[in-house]
Order: sequence, then structure tokens, then C-alpha cells
Amino acid sequence: MNKPVVLVAEELSEAGLAVLGADFEVRHTDGADRAQFLPALAGVDALIVRSATQVDAEAIAHAPKLRVVARAGVGLDNVDVEAATKAGVMVVNAPTSNITSAAEHTVALILASARNVAQAHSALKAGEWKRSKYTGVELDEKVIGILGLGKIGQLVAQRLQPFGVELIAYDPYLQPARAAQMGVRLASLEEVLRESDFITVHLPKSKETIGLIGDRELHTVKPSVRLINVARGGIIDENALYSAIKEGRVAGAGIDVFPKEPVTDSPLFELDQVVVTPHLGASTHEAQEKAGTQVARSVKLALAGEFVPDA
Ligand code: MLT
Repeated sequence: MNKPVVLVAEELSEAGLAVLGADFEVRHTDGADRAQFLPALAGVDALIVRSATQVDAEAIAHAPKLRVVARAGVGLDNVDVEAATKAGVMVVNAPTSNITSAAEHTVALILASARNVAQAHSALKAGEWKRSKYTGVELDEKVIGILGLGKIGQLVAQRLQPFGVELIAYDPYLQPARAAQMGVRLASLEEVLRESDFITVHLPKSKETIGLIGDRELHTVKPSVRLINVARGGIIDENALYSAIKEGRVAGAGIDVFPKEPVTDSPLFELDQVVVTPHLGASTHEAQEKAGTQVARSVKLALAGEFVPDA
């Protein structure tokens, strides 16, 4: 009997592949390369992706046997869930697999941005010993504004508390009392923009959040503010951020995500005040192992026609 085919379109941890075991025919493709990806979908029962593969209606139409799309991570913005559902394809993800890693990377970028770690590192390795140029700021007594106090935003808040900061957050879906239990004051978006010394984004990408922080918003912040985005590119408008930093209306930024990925030519790359990483929020061994094993288990259950619990 033919084994069900699982197409792995991006890197999946060894542990995830081990969970799939010998019960499936596992094929590999490069999901970011459409010319390779679309033909590879023929005859596939399950598809496993991260964030670089666009699982849109066109892709789903190329996979008539497809029963499940598994996103080895949290965000589903690269999967057309409506088109999948219409085609009778189940969509699963690993919603908690990488939240710790994303929160830790956020703290790394906040500190890197506060203390010019990346810039000073590059300068010193290039033979420049410059202490005053890279004078930074403390987190102590600063106001940190969190946009989105969901799972990742909450972990960020917990991790920042010992730094002696004041935490405020914009989250229209959370009760003020619940935020207060976490030591966070809920505020309007306008207040967060106006009062924060650091603003960190932890929102999903959607019609409502694309461009949420644009030119108008960046005219209302403190000139000393630093913006951090480990969520999704485009929530902070890149061009507006570029102009704000150039014009001295924003002091700096730590950016892990970009409107189009992969990217090698963002305007932000030319600014010394900006520290960037190539979408590394979830890129830890631990997160990838969790994401890989969680989605592999879900794929097994889905293809066996069994109930798939939330991971
Ligand atoms: C996610 O949504 O899980 C992250 O952006 C990580 C990733 O796609 O690798």
C-alpha cells in the first residue's frame, strides 16, 4: 500500500522528522521557490511549512489530495486559511512552540538597541575603540510599551520586570485587571506611543495591524524612543521608521522582521541606529524542536483521521 506523502517545504527539526517516522513518504522542497514548490504539491497528503512558504489558494489548487497544512510555528499569515477550509484542508500550527524564544529575542534586541551592542561590536572588530560614541541608555525606570499583550507580549513583560521598568501595554482584547495582575498598565495606542522609551510589537499581521505604526504615529513619540519588532514586518511602516530615525524623531530600532522576506536591501540597513536580524525570533534549537515535533504529531493524527488537539 502507498504511504501517505508529507511534503516538507522548509527546514524541519530532526526530532520532527523522527516523529513522522517510517509511516510516511517524506519529500522535501524549497517552499520559497514557487517554480519548485507548486509542482511538488501533486500527490501530497500533508504539507509542513514555516514562514517563507506562501500557502495561498494557488498552492492549494495544486494539491488536490492535500488534507492538512501544518505551520511549524505560530503565525498563520502565510497560509490562506479560508481557501484551505473551502478545499476541506485542515490547518494546524504550533502556537506555543517558539513563544519563549521570541520573547528572549525581543529582550536581546531591546538591550542591543539600548547599548549599541551590534554597532560597537562591528566598530571594534574593524579596529575602532570608540567608547563615547557608543554611550547607551539604561532600562532602569524607563517606560516600556508593549503592543499586544498576548502569549509573547506577556513573556516579554515578565522578563523585563526585573530591570526596574514601568510596563504599559496596548491590547484591546485584554481586561485591565488581567494586565494589572502581570504588573502592566493597559493604555490606549496613543498613550503608549506618547509615553514609552521603548516600544515593542507583539501583534499578529492582519489588515488591522499592517501599518499600525506609520508616519502619523511616529510623529507622536518621544525622540528618545527605540522601537523593537520581532512580530511581523509591515506592522511598523519601514519607510516611516527610516524617515523618523533620519530626522531624529526616533532614536533607534531593533528589527527582526521585514515586509518581504528574505530581504537584503531594506532602507533601514543604512542606519547605524538600527540593529537588525534575519527573522531569528523563533530560531533556537529548542523552539525548532518543539515546533517540529508538535506539527509532526498533528500531521500524524490528522492523516489518521483522529482528533487533533491544540498543541
Ligand atoms: C512564527 O510565526 O512562528 C515565527 O515567525 C517563526 C517562524 O516562522 O519561523
